[in-house]
Amino acid sequence: MSADHRARRQALRRLLIEHSSEAMIVTDLINIRYLTGFTGSNAALLVHVGDSSAHEDRTVICTDGRYLAQVAKQVPDLRSEIARASGRRLLELAHETGLGRIGFESHVVTVDDHRAWLDLTPALKLHRMPGLVEQLRQIKDDHEIELLRAACAAADSALAALIETGGLRRGRTEREVGRELESLMFDHGAEGVSFETIVATGANSAIPHHRPTSAELATGDFVKLDFGALVGGYHSDMTRTFVLGAATAWHKEVYDLVARAQAAGRAALLPGTPVADVDAAARTVIEEAGHGALFLHGLGHGVGLQIHEAPGIGKAGTGTLACGEAVTVEPGVYFSGRGGVRIEDTLVVRDAGPELLTLTSKDLTVL
Ligand code: GLY
Ligand code: MN
Ligand code: MN
Repeated sequence: MSADHRARRQALRRLLIEHSSEAMIVTDLINIRYLTGFTGSNAALLVHVGDSSAHEDRTVICTDGRYLAQVAKQVPDLRSEIARASGRRLLELAHETGLGRIGFESHVVTVDDHRAWLDLTPALKLHRMPGLVEQLRQIKDDHEIELLRAACAAADSALAALIETGGLRRGRTEREVGRELESLMFDHGAEGVSFETIVATGANSAIPHHRPTSAELATGDFVKLDFGALVGGYHSDMTRTFVLGAATAWHKEVYDLVARAQAAGRAALLPGTPVADVDAAARTVIEEAGHGALFLHGLGHGVGLQIHEAPGIGKAGTGTLACGEAVTVEPGVYFSGRGGVRIEDTLVVRDAGPELLTLTSKDLTVL
């Protein structure tokens, strides 16, 4: 299966019509990738409302000479322009072709570029359209879900291989474990890592986004691994926490609490549910155990071409879930100076209940 960029551009045109816009200039590189497949480091895209999926002669991508061959290969279905100042060049084109109202990504364009654009083309009416492509990206199509599934599988397989080969043995440092887990993700099909792998052992496991150090894994530790693989530009995100040696009553109690909160959060992932209610479903479990103050972050986030994207699932989150959104559910309880547990999966919101993409067991595992 390949990405249907034409259908995505047509969906954007429908949104532009709703906003009474004749065109939009897209300058966010991830949004350009989503709409065209282009992965270079400089580009702008002019999407013309008058075009359609069948005829796209007024929709233009611009990049510079470094990407002459790449743009022809990755975006064979659109006209391309070559210029260093890609946004500026497309606005000139828009002006020449008599366009009037053009939307732009005001959450991305710098104040200086905006000023320069206004000076360049005073006749054009540039109006702010923040987050329009991100709104489309929030609902994943089948191709995107396939890539997310592959990214999650690479991470699952890497973790299984790490454990099978004794990678989490006592005496290894957090850094050694992190490097090996990252290397294993490449071995299992990743083209990159989603973010710097978190390996946090002992008291460090109480730090939600701890960066790996020379601390050694030791008996009695919680060891928390938060990591993800990149496949086709799509990010996976998972966290598992293990106990080294033997689990005490405290380990079991904390782990069981987070596991129950995570299950409650997953169960609440249904289309139409306010995201704040999803957060509350998990948070209430932790609050009722008297540890609400130790759950230091939101429950989850959307995931896709970026590791963190809409929707944010937290106390202050707004909006409701929709079918096809890919999100994480990742409650944690952190006892400062002692240890903490987080359990995180990547899932897809479906009408019949969430589809789990992270398949590694969440049973308490003692290594
Ligand atoms: N490690 C990033 C996250 O879980 O959101
Ligand atoms: Mn994570
Ligand atoms: Mn996450």
